[in-house]
Amino acid sequence: MTDPEAEVRQAGGGDPATFRHEPVMAVEVLDALAPCPPGPVLDATVGGGGHAALLLDARPDLTVVGLDRDDVALAASGDRLAPFGSRVLLHRSAFGELGAALDGLGVGPLSGFLFDLGVSSPQLDVADRGFSYREAGPLDMRMDRRQPLTADDVVNGYPEDDLARLLVRNADERHARRIARAVVAARPVRDTAALADLVRSAIPAPARRTGGHPAKRTFQAIRIEVNDELGQLAGALDEAIGRLRPGGRGAVLSYHSGEDRIVKARFDHAATGGCACPPRLPCACGAVPVATLARRSGRTPAAAESERNPRAASARLRVLERIDAGDVG
Ligand SMILES: C[S@@+](CC[C@H](N)C(=O)[O-])C[C@H]1O[C@@H](n2cnc3c(N)ncnc32)[C@H](O)[C@@H]1O
Repeated sequence: MTDPEAEVRQAGGGDPATFRHEPVMAVEVLDALAPCPPGPVLDATVGGGGHAALLLDARPDLTVVGLDRDDVALAASGDRLAPFGSRVLLHRSAFGELGAALDGLGVGPLSGFLFDLGVSSPQLDVADRGFSYREAGPLDMRMDRRQPLTADDVVNGYPEDDLARLLVRNADERHARRIARAVVAARPVRDTAALADLVRSAIPAPARRTGGHPAKRTFQAIRIEVNDELGQLAGALDEAIGRLRPGGRGAVLSYHSGEDRIVKARFDHAATGGCACPPRLPCACGAVPVATLARRSGRTPAAAESERNPRAASARLRVLERIDAGDVG
């Protein structure tokens, strides 16, 4: 699972001028996208524009269409990518709506795409955004501050069973039931500091001493719920894969098992065409693969990068290449 505590240590500031986020597995991502044909690459989570700037530097024949649903991130990437002029198009959108966004911008077949999932360091670091369990802040956690659902609605409004379920689903929290019960009993929970204290006292004493801050998984689980981080992913990946031109490449960086399961399933689906025939028999169902996978199990960062940048430690990079349906057979 991702370690939000580690992510915080990489933090920059909250305004675009100080938005700092070290691009994860930068060498491997550039390597994965190196064979892309010339043309537009979708950066579905452009953030501070770190990966995008590296790609634009490395490949003068590529342009970047950058999406993000966070206005601060988008302002930061606007500054960072300004030197690339008309080679960059930025648009505020959730990647769940990438089809409409690309059509609206008049972008045709993609030469490549990149999804670098989760939150960026500055989002986690600014207490006011409500992502951090280290400082008192509002129970917010919205990447897109125009959306109505906040962490307050989840923490102070969800039934105990739903809370317990999302703690397991989004963060593999072993003490989900105890935490959910404690949250419901303490309502109204005032702010992030009160929530962090509550979680700490809800879990058994020995568990408080291992595995980092006791509230990190609870915060991660609530953040994923507030931002529907898993709900949009499968459809967005299918849409992006469907828009790749033959030879185009797609790369996804995920940071916890729930995300990676979805990425793996959609990539496998693209590589098999959804074929469900028994593995040792020839396919009889007529499924048509649309992609090949670069490495079945994906890649993880080098030890040196995880040491230097703790946020990278839980990363997994999966890569595919689009094939022409005519190439198959
Ligand atoms: C890990 S950061 C990306 C950092 C970027 N690769 C860089 O090098 O600066 C993830 C970004 O994705 C954005 N994001 C997360 N989920 C999103 C979604 N469903 N739609 C659009 N943007 C999303 C976040 O707001 C955040 O800015």
